[in-house]
Parts: sequence; C-alpha cells; structure tokens
Amino acid sequence: MAFTYQNGALCAEQLPLEDIARQFGTPCYVYSRSAIERAYGEYARALSGRDAIVCYSVKANSNLAILALMAKLGAGFDIVSGGELARVLAAGGDPRKTLFSGVGKTEPELEQALLAGVLCINLESEAELDRVNAVAARLGRRAPVAFRVNPDVDAQTHPYISTGLKQNKFGVAHDDAERLYGKAARMAHIEVRGIGCHIGSQLTDPAPFVEAAARITALAARLVEAGIPLEHIDLGGGIGIRYRDEMPQPIDRFVAGALAALAGHRATLILDPGRSIVGNAGLLLTRIEYVKPGPAKNFLVVDAAMNDLLRPALYNAWHEVQTVREPARGALPATYDVVGPVCESGDFLAKERALVAGEGDLLAVMSAGAYGMSMSSNYNSRPRAAEVLVDGARAHLVREREAVQDLFALERILP
Ligand code: LLP
Repeated sequence: MAFTYQNGALCAEQLPLEDIARQFGTPCYVYSRSAIERAYGEYARALSGRDAIVCYSVKANSNLAILALMAKLGAGFDIVSGGELARVLAAGGDPRKTLFSGVGKTEPELEQALLAGVLCINLESEAELDRVNAVAARLGRRAPVAFRVNPDVDAQTHPYISTGLKQNKFGVAHDDAERLYGKAARMAHIEVRGIGCHIGSQLTDPAPFVEAAARITALAARLVEAGIPLEHIDLGGGIGIRYRDEMPQPIDRFVAGALAALAGHRATLILDPGRSIVGNAGLLLTRIEYVKPGPAKNFLVVDAAMNDLLRPALYNAWHEVQTVREPARGALPATYDVVGPVCESGDFLAKERALVAGEGDLLAVMSAGAYGMSMSSNYNSRPRAAEVLVDGARAHLVREREAVQDLFALERILP
C-alpha cells in the first residue's frame, strides 16, 4: 500500500505527510513512486513473453517526473496534443513507442508528430486521413496510421467518460472502417500500421472491454484478408480503480481477455492505460482553514478546491478523505462536506463524510493521482498546487507551486 498509517500518522511510503506539508506547503499533490511502478508491473507481468507495448496515457498525469519514470520502465505513450508530445520528448520518452490520438489534431501538431517520428497517428475521421496524407506529402514522408474504430459497445460507465458508443464523437464508425482502410492503403503518403479502439474509462468489468476487443480483432482479420496487413492492435485503456467500494477486476483479467481476443493474430498488442497506473498512486494533501457548522450541514473549508481537483464537481466523483492524524480510538466523528474556497456551490471535494477533524488539521483526498493535477486550472486566480514524488523516505519536489505572478505574466494592460 502506498499510503498507510504508521504510528498514527498517514505516510506516503515511509514519509509522514505532515513532513511534506511542512516542507512544501498545501495544497500539494503527493505521488508514490513504488505504487506507480507496481501498477505498471502488473501490466508488464501479464504481458510478459508477448509482443506488446503499454503506452501510458499521458493525459492522466503528465508531470515530467512521472513520464520519465514510465519511460525508464520501458513504457510507450499515448498522447492527444502537441503539448503532450513535447512533454514526452522532454522526459526522454521514445517517439517510436508513442501513439497520437484525439479527434481534432491540427496541422502543426501533425507536422510535429511526423517530424518526431511517432509510432502511429490514430485517425478519427476521413477528413483527418486526407489532412494527414497532405501534411506527410508536404514533408516528403509517409505517415504511419491506424483508425480508431468505434466498436459501438456500451462501456457501462459514467456517460462523460464513455466513448465507444455510436453517439460519441470518437473514432470512425465500425461499418465505415473497411472502406476507409481501402482508401488509406491506396494513398501515396500513408502507411497503414494498425487498428485501435477505446470504449471508455473506469471500467470495472472486463466484459465490454473483451467484447470490443473481439469486434476489433474480427475486423482486423477481414482487413488482413483484404490485403491490408496490420502490425498492431490497440485496445485502448480504461481499466478502472477502486475509489470507494468498486471492485474492479484485476488488470491481468483484462489483459487475459485482450490476449484471448488476439489469439491467431500476429499483430503487436497495444494497451494505453492511464488511471490504473497513477490513480491510486497519488493523493491531494490539503489543510483545513475553517470548521463551519451550519443549520443544515457542517463544512470543512480546506485550502484545496475544484480548481485543484475537478472530478467531484464535474462527475460527482467520490474520493475517499482521510485525516492525516489517525483518529484516536473512541473519538466521535462529525459529518462534514469538505469544500474549497472557490465561489461555486459545485466546489466540493467530498460530501457527507464522518471525520474527526479541526481547524489546521491536514486531510488527504485519496485516489487523486489520475486526472487530478492534469485537469486543474487557475480559476479564482488560484496558483496551482505543488507536486511531490515520494521514493521510500525521500520527497522530491517535481513541480513547484505556481507563484501568483505566473498567473498573469502573459497578460497586457492597454497603453
Ligand atoms: N486511450 C484513449 C484513447 C483515451 O481516450 C483514454 C482516456 C485513455 C486511453 C486512458 O483511459 P484510462 O486508462 O485513464 O481510463 N477525466 C476523466 C477521464 C477521461 C478519460 C479520457 N480518455 C476522469 O477524471 O475520470
């Protein structure tokens, strides 16, 4: 376990969170190196001896230190913007193991990706195929591509993070795929490399994942028969984690399902997980500013807010909240909403939690390693939190807390 009580104090690996708060202040994201390595290791073990690449989904947490860690472990990367590509390169990631996904890639981004030599551009529309062919022609290259095919499978997850249904904006329609591959194969500056899908995020049951895999591999077999060989099959990410009481099936169950669907194919298997690698390897450390009892509810007003961790406000997501001091046995908890200082009623981190807590105490908002810092903003002119990566008993500051001057450094007052 990455975060455990030791002698009454919640620790990241062997380091008390109190020490981190003292040294780096709050709010602060805290990550455990060993937890990240353990989660990646589950994929690596389940895939060992197979021709496979794990392309870490950079959007989940794009801190350079984490990307560098992933690169060192041998991971590839799944990116969705020129900014993410620049991060991967700055962290020492291998562009030849990098997939470029996303529905709205611009020409400069496509150029940047082709010049960097990415493994594959995952196309999401026919218009994008035409654009990539034109950009590659201009550069005198052939662009490696795959289509992200929408398998029309219900991922049975939150509608905002479900992506594999007909009504979603992602991918090309399953029924259109063969025609599009035929067209791509005839284009002078396109080199067909593979096929991909991603049905959604926070999946707890492998069934829809495996169903999508079966649909995609069946399509891949038809393409190969039609004379369009595919070097890889990318089954996306989306494996869920435990936030509250979910019981996600272990990673190796998902991987086994993917491998079974791929049996008989010679293609390399690619997976692009994000949350399942970093989600439970991180927490958001925050301090209670005020205890505010009210007629209908009691509030703990903390120094972190929706701008730091948007998931509760955006998805009504549940994040466990733990006090950094282990509550004394027999201490009576009160029920609180944990809220931030931002001027929105939607600014909450947790609702109706039984906690033994007072002004000045530290709280840890758990499972915040994925889509925490990466979705943060400066709303209400709040500088973004510091990020600390813990390795054993050592803390490394991997992103400084923003300074207020940084927030308006790019702005100009009219003369
Ligand atoms: N591959 C593709 C093509 C994706 O679109 C995504 C996530 C992933 C992989 C990684 O999925 P993961 O393994 O992390 O579930 N902000 C939301 C999640 C949005 C996910 C978007 N796509 C949240 O906080 O729950």
